[in-house]
Amino acid sequence: MTDLLRIENLVVEYATRRGTARALDKASIILEENKTLGLAGESGCGKSTLGRAIMRLVPYPGKIIEGEIFLNLDQPVSVKTEDIPMGEVNLMNLDEDQMRALRGRMIAYIFQDPMTSLNPMLTIGDHFIQIMQAHDPEIEDEAALDRAKEILDGLGILPERVTDYPHQFSGGMRQRVMIGLGLALRPRLLISDEPTTSLDVIVEAQILEQMAELKDKFNLTMILITHNLGVLAQTADDIAIIYAGRIMEHASTDALFGNPQHPYTKALLEAVPDVSKPEKKLTWIPGAPPDLMDFIPGCMYNPRCPHAMDICRTTVPTLIKSKSGGKVACWLYEEE
Ligand SMILES: Nc1ncnc2c1ncn2[C@@H]1O[C@H](COP(=O)(O)OP(=O)(O)OP(=O)(O)O)[C@@H](O)[C@H]1O
Ligand code: SF4
Ligand SMILES: [Mg+2]
Repeated sequence: MTDLLRIENLVVEYATRRGTARALDKASIILEENKTLGLAGESGCGKSTLGRAIMRLVPYPGKIIEGEIFLNLDQPVSVKTEDIPMGEVNLMNLDEDQMRALRGRMIAYIFQDPMTSLNPMLTIGDHFIQIMQAHDPEIEDEAALDRAKEILDGLGILPERVTDYPHQFSGGMRQRVMIGLGLALRPRLLISDEPTTSLDVIVEAQILEQMAELKDKFNLTMILITHNLGVLAQTADDIAIIYAGRIMEHASTDALFGNPQHPYTKALLEAVPDVSKPEKKLTWIPGAPPDLMDFIPGCMYNPRCPHAMDICRTTVPTLIKSKSGGKVACWLYEEE
């Protein structure tokens, strides 16, 4: 299987008046073509920052400090400054025109807040026309609307509703429209940031199912960002667990749920409520994620970890192969 995306040692910082927050600290990830990678972790751990960094759209005052992001292109991409050749390209070496040509067409991002991302003055169809004509001014309105109808149909929205305005849609439908807009240019990689967070569980399940169908239909590779491990259990092939900007564990979904290695992964799984076991007490992880402005020597999880040893408080563990077949960054496993 080909690797579509390879991220190596990515560091992203937000420089604010209060100090500098290191939102990603040497994050490395590999994503195979046609797979879905789930990114999970507590609020503020760097999930959206990682997704946006892949688009090279880290918002001000954030900045990619170092690292490489390789994307494997299956065809050359024409750009007015300089065409991008087929094959593996390091996104960090591309200029802004080249990145703009890739966004939407090769990599699409569905933002975390769909409710405010649609323009109330435009019909749903107009949104599709705008996105498609921004990349190809030659595309006629009719052709863009046909694409919109096909995609919306796949997401359970009647095609004739392209003439409606966002306020005529429910929250779940607006979320579907956002997903549809992400698919408008038939990207190879779709990054979906908390696509179902504000929805009820029934609508959530429907949308996840429809996304899985569209993924197969359009041959997509996906990154699904969520703090909800239950969502990933149903949808992801692999899962990366992030804590305070560092990848703590990366494994197949089966391995992560069946044989979690990292103490943080175990604690996260333990904290998932289980309706089939009403007698089970609700648990949580004691303490809180660190303020990323504060420097914590060693493993970032050490202040909350019940297994913390001396070395954990001084030296950062590296991501090494784990016995579940994935990778883990924890001193408990360093000697194996
Ligand atoms: N605009 C900003 N200004 C300053 N710091 C920021 C900004 N955005 C993010 N950060 C820092 O980066 C960290 C990671 O933020 P990010 O949005 O990537 O987290 P997240 O995992 O997506 O959280 P959530 O689950 O709440 O969406 C935050 O904890 C914060 O320290
Ligand atoms: S490295 Fe140490 S502190 Fe960090 S998770 Fe492993 S045992 Fe806990
Ligand atoms: Mg986020």
